[in-house]
Amino acid sequence: MKAWRAHQFGPYNDVLQFEECPDPTAPRGGVVIDVHAAALNFPDILAIAGQYQVKAPLPFVPGIEACGVVTEAGEGSRFAVGDRVIANALWGAFGQKMEAPDMSCFAAPAGMSDAAAAGFVVTYQTSYFALEYRARLQPGEVLLVHGGAGGVGTSCIQIGKAMGATVIATAGSEEKLQVCRDCGADHVINYRDDDFVAAVKRITGGRGADVIYDPVGGDVFSRSTKCIAFGGRILVIGFTSGTIPELRTNRILIKNMSVIGLFWGAYQLHQPQLIHDTHEILTGMYAESKIEPVICQTRPLAQLPAALDLISERKSYGKVVVAG
Ligand SMILES: NC(=O)c1ccc[n+]([C@@H]2O[C@H](COP(=O)([O-])OP(=O)(O)OC[C@H]3O[C@@H](n4cnc5c(N)ncnc54)[C@H](OP(=O)(O)O)[C@@H]3O)[C@@H](O)[C@H]2O)c1
Repeated sequence: MKAWRAHQFGPYNDVLQFEECPDPTAPRGGVVIDVHAAALNFPDILAIAGQYQVKAPLPFVPGIEACGVVTEAGEGSRFAVGDRVIANALWGAFGQKMEAPDMSCFAAPAGMSDAAAAGFVVTYQTSYFALEYRARLQPGEVLLVHGGAGGVGTSCIQIGKAMGATVIATAGSEEKLQVCRDCGADHVINYRDDDFVAAVKRITGGRGADVIYDPVGGDVFSRSTKCIAFGGRILVIGFTSGTIPELRTNRILIKNMSVIGLFWGAYQLHQPQLIHDTHEILTGMYAESKIEPVICQTRPLAQLPAALDLISERKSYGKVVVAG
């Protein structure tokens, strides 16, 4: 099969090669799929650079999520040849074939395109786990979503609305604000033109947001503590700003707030069944048209580096996908 492979860690434009690689074989209790579409994620760039939490063994095919059809089912697998599945793994999605254990595979929702399904699991699971299991978002609460037009941001807006929250989203351009509105955001803030702290206070009559979803970190996190409601919860999701912020604990005390971390991937180790139960819930929400993955662009697999450029240059919204 052909796949994008890195023989050393470094900038993706330097180290990725589109080359002939050995076909994967199905592990016991796992499958090989023909990849129809693979979704890009911000951490792909970090993984290729060797800067992600988990370092892949070199050489490696990057990519953590794909949708395709099972071509080989290993002994004991619950899947059969011909099943359409979403596979989520530490690497391997940016090739024509991918192997994955059953534990990391999910039935692709009926009626959902391959491109949408490829990017469905990580983003929607992250936002659902954050809002439902970690922050316990309640109907009528105000949810502030930073990076609202991004992969996790768009899913968070949609799930927040489905859970009955009033959603405020921030983004950095008019095009991205429109993406947030299309996802259902009640209020949008262009943080480049408007101080988001003042805007959130204005929108909430001075009260602040009950739950703040933060995939950006840095100054965005620090300033969020200035527009959080009494008893509010800040969800630490990621650090696209490149800066991990620090917070003095007296601020947590004074504000009666909670700072809540979420590392979705760790649930695969600690509570894998919850991930599969959540997939059923999210599949149901999709069937009821409460959520709908947002696809920015689908590029041929051969153009992966250009597709990664869209993410690294902040030109993407929702999910960028490679297919075919
Ligand atoms: N905790 C978990 O379990 C978990 C799971 C999945 C993802 N994540 C993390 O969540 C973060 C977002 O992932 P994603 O897939 O949504 O990424 P994405 O699609 O690239 O979106 C990130 C958003 O962050 C904003 N941003 C602000 N400052 C930025 C900067 N300096 N560089 C790039 N973007 C910046 C951008 O919006 P504007 O241009 O509008 O500012 C962009 O839309 C990543 O750090 C990822 O690792 C965490």
